[in-house]
Amino acid sequence: MTSLLVTGGAGFIGSNFVHWALANTDANVTVLDALTYAGNLSSLGGLSAERFQFVNGSVTSPGLVSELVEASDVVVHFAAESHNDNSLEGPGVFIDTNIVGTYHVLQAVRQHQKRLHHISTDEVYGDLELDDPAKFTPATPYNPSSPYSASKAASDHLVRAWVRSFGVQATISNCSNNYGPRQHIEKFIPRQITNIIDGHRPKLYGAGLNVRDWIHVDDHNSAVWRIIEEGAIGETYLIGADGEKSNREVIELILELMGLEPDGYDHVNDRAGHDLRYAIDATKLREELGWEPRYTDFSEGLDETITWYEDNETWWRPMKDATEAKYAAKGQ
Ligand code: NAD
Ligand code: DAU
Repeated sequence: MTSLLVTGGAGFIGSNFVHWALANTDANVTVLDALTYAGNLSSLGGLSAERFQFVNGSVTSPGLVSELVEASDVVVHFAAESHNDNSLEGPGVFIDTNIVGTYHVLQAVRQHQKRLHHISTDEVYGDLELDDPAKFTPATPYNPSSPYSASKAASDHLVRAWVRSFGVQATISNCSNNYGPRQHIEKFIPRQITNIIDGHRPKLYGAGLNVRDWIHVDDHNSAVWRIIEEGAIGETYLIGADGEKSNREVIELILELMGLEPDGYDHVNDRAGHDLRYAIDATKLREELGWEPRYTDFSEGLDETITWYEDNETWWRPMKDATEAKYAAKGQ
């Protein structure tokens, strides 16, 4: 039976990965999470203690990381500061967690000779023009725009260097925008859903023409598992499900699915340096590893996500006022 160490497992994608792995594999799971503002222990509620344990600590603590890595077979490294807007306000913690934290994870897997899968983002490639037929591929040059994406790009480079220089057994995946249950309400989709539940109008940055390539979190995680099982060491796989939509289209769809007029939103201040378009070409993952997404109808996945936020107000309510106060101070 495989022992997984999941860093950042109390966050959005990590917690969904833990639920997914316990339901779909026979692995044991240890989560290492610092429970920052983005970590939520209730996202890991109800899991059997026989196969799951939680450790409260940081990937920037080398002794703790080494001890937990030694006790595991495979490390899945999700832990990160993940929000672009926050990285514009305070980039320092992004450097500490995303770069220095990844360095400590790499040193530990190197010392104990363990398999690593590093979770990264399509944002390392910068952005594309709206009318460009191109998509990101593993050959696209790195060109990150924000402190967040630059810190993730740096972490990817560290992983590649540790593979080449020290023979670390690692794979990397760069995924597009995830949606689904348990995403922090600072992020675009859950912010708008919870605004509407509260009777407030959704907020669109600028003109809202920016395009994101949406994938359901369970599809991201099934791809991660496929790469852990069948990916080639040292390789990078791009994960995406052909889900390109403009922000305006997404906000209009959320309004419609929640029974409101599609034009019932406000335009607010744009994000500095706002990336225009992301788009993933996942051919390598599909053809070499035979992966396919399950959620091919965005409207259906979005509707399920809306229902999750409607049914789980106790999960998000404690964060709502502070999150909106931060945005209001920036005219967003
Ligand atoms: P999140 O912000 O919801 O969760 C991050 C988790 O990491 C939280 O539980 C937090 O407490 C924990 N954490 C933060 N600093 C830590 C530290 N120093 N030590 C240990 N734990 C720490 O983020 P997410 O959206 O779930 O993203 C997870 C990973 O996936 C990140 O690496 C992110 O770059 C990547 N990613 C996210 C998306 C997306 O659309 N959300 C897409 C592609 C890749
Ligand atoms: O592409 C992968 C990335 O996707 C991940 O690496 C990041 O961790 C994740 O946060 C996400 O980054 P984005 O910046 O694309 O996601 P966010 O949810 O913050 O915003 C999505 C789009 O919606 C973006 O164009 C900004 C816009 N937006 C966002 C908010 C919060 C709005 O128009 N209004 C809003 O209120």
